[in-house]
Amino acid sequence: MTTVTTSPRPAVQERSAGHVVPPCALVIFGAAGDLTKRKLIPALYNLARQKLLPDDFAIVGVARAALDDAGFRAQLAAEIARFVPGTFAPELWKWLESRVHYVAGNFSDAETFTALEKKLGELETSRWTRGNTLFYLATAPDFFGPIARMLRERGLADESHGRWRRIIVEKPFGRDLASAKALNAELLQALGEKQIYRIDHYLGKETVQNILVFRFANGIFEPIWNRRYVDHVQITVSETLGVEKRGGYYDRAGCLRDMVPNHIFQLISLVAMEPPISFAADAVRDEQSKVLRAIHAPTPEEVLHNAVRGQYGAGTIDGRNLVDYRAEQGVPPNSGTETFVAMKLAIDSWRWNGVPFYLRVGKALAARKTEITIRFRKPPLVLFRDTSIADLHPNDLVIHVQPKEGISLRFGAKIPGAQLKIGGVDMDFDYAEHFGATPATGYERLLYDAMQGDQTLFQRADMVEASWAVVDPVLDVWQALPPREFPNYRAGSWGPREADHLLELDGRSWRPVD
Ligand code: BG6
Repeated sequence: MTTVTTSPRPAVQERSAGHVVPPCALVIFGAAGDLTKRKLIPALYNLARQKLLPDDFAIVGVARAALDDAGFRAQLAAEIARFVPGTFAPELWKWLESRVHYVAGNFSDAETFTALEKKLGELETSRWTRGNTLFYLATAPDFFGPIARMLRERGLADESHGRWRRIIVEKPFGRDLASAKALNAELLQALGEKQIYRIDHYLGKETVQNILVFRFANGIFEPIWNRRYVDHVQITVSETLGVEKRGGYYDRAGCLRDMVPNHIFQLISLVAMEPPISFAADAVRDEQSKVLRAIHAPTPEEVLHNAVRGQYGAGTIDGRNLVDYRAEQGVPPNSGTETFVAMKLAIDSWRWNGVPFYLRVGKALAARKTEITIRFRKPPLVLFRDTSIADLHPNDLVIHVQPKEGISLRFGAKIPGAQLKIGGVDMDFDYAEHFGATPATGYERLLYDAMQGDQTLFQRADMVEASWAVVDPVLDVWQALPPREFPNYRAGSWGPREADHLLELDGRSWRPVD
């Protein structure tokens, strides 16, 4: 008779086999920054809560401050409860905290990498990380290239002996096409494309990931998802906050660079892509890439007609007073940087030819809302000619990304009564109501996928470059013609009037945000 003895494990470490990420170390460059304490560590905590992290796991923070493991742990511990969404379980934090380590040093000093190499070597035996390492570059973009180069020179990017080495890079990936190409070239000298994970936190949002499921796991939408049935698509990404303390960064970037070639183009590519041949990372990204390449890069003349920029002036939002953008901390008093962009884009493809994609995005707007509206064409004939019905409500399919998460379909229905009247009604799916709210930071899935080696939700070099190729002409025209009327919208409004004109000229209007 064989007796099998098992040693009981603490509850938080029980996990279902097959889904747990492989043993590894996660190295965070820039560990002293906000991203680490607000998003990355809470996301790892949530992964541990979902029993998706292995016992053989370690976190190594790298930053300039002269701390040791204990000091860094204490720093994180002081704030973790505040940043973990949902309830905080101290015993779970203990489990994670015991795996936290620290290396002090400058990102451009060779000694930092010597110390890191030593630390990773120790963790291979003390934590059984098997040499698998994910490097998270939560640093200023100037360090991306140098860190990647150092990793290669020290052999830290080397994947021999069955171990994997990957890096995650945060945006901005360059500030125009030329710098994006240079950055890609620099990264690709140090690592293979398969090792590079360019993160876009919009792809961490459930509602964004759901676009693929919605389109391709249901048979009823795809047949009408094209120019025959869709009149146009509009995307609103509005924020109520101003630039807050990020004036210094933001003023050099501007709204276009900050939001459009990354977050908004990701949304467009998911909405507009062809069905991939499989859900393998490159099959999906090939189709996204094709859409991005098919977005028409505007001529200077088209930029003047199809792109609108704005900058906010003082105003009130939800009882908060905002000062002029130009009076914000870190912003020059004569700044010509845009805090609002609206654009009309064309996708030169068989499916979308003639279907405009309108986008508007900005800071200090009337409401916080990210939504994508697919507006369908009206019926070919208004059968209700001899009735009191003058016009029909358009059919809108709205993907609510945030803060409400869900999908709604608007259609016309007869209003009860003797007269024929039609009202617009919504069929609504609400994520939280249906599935219950899952407290998350938005980084869980992305970190998990990177540790699993799944690149589907990460941007490939060609996608980044295709996006900049569309935005570059706009940047050029705007740089050549400094804005004359900034500030041109009031904080708390929906942006400059020209953003409405953009659609009005085509006989359309922005869907009122509810
Ligand atoms: C960031 C931008 O990438 O996205 C910020 O740099 C912006 O300016 C933020 O506020 C918006 O993200 P979210 O998830 O709040 O829509």
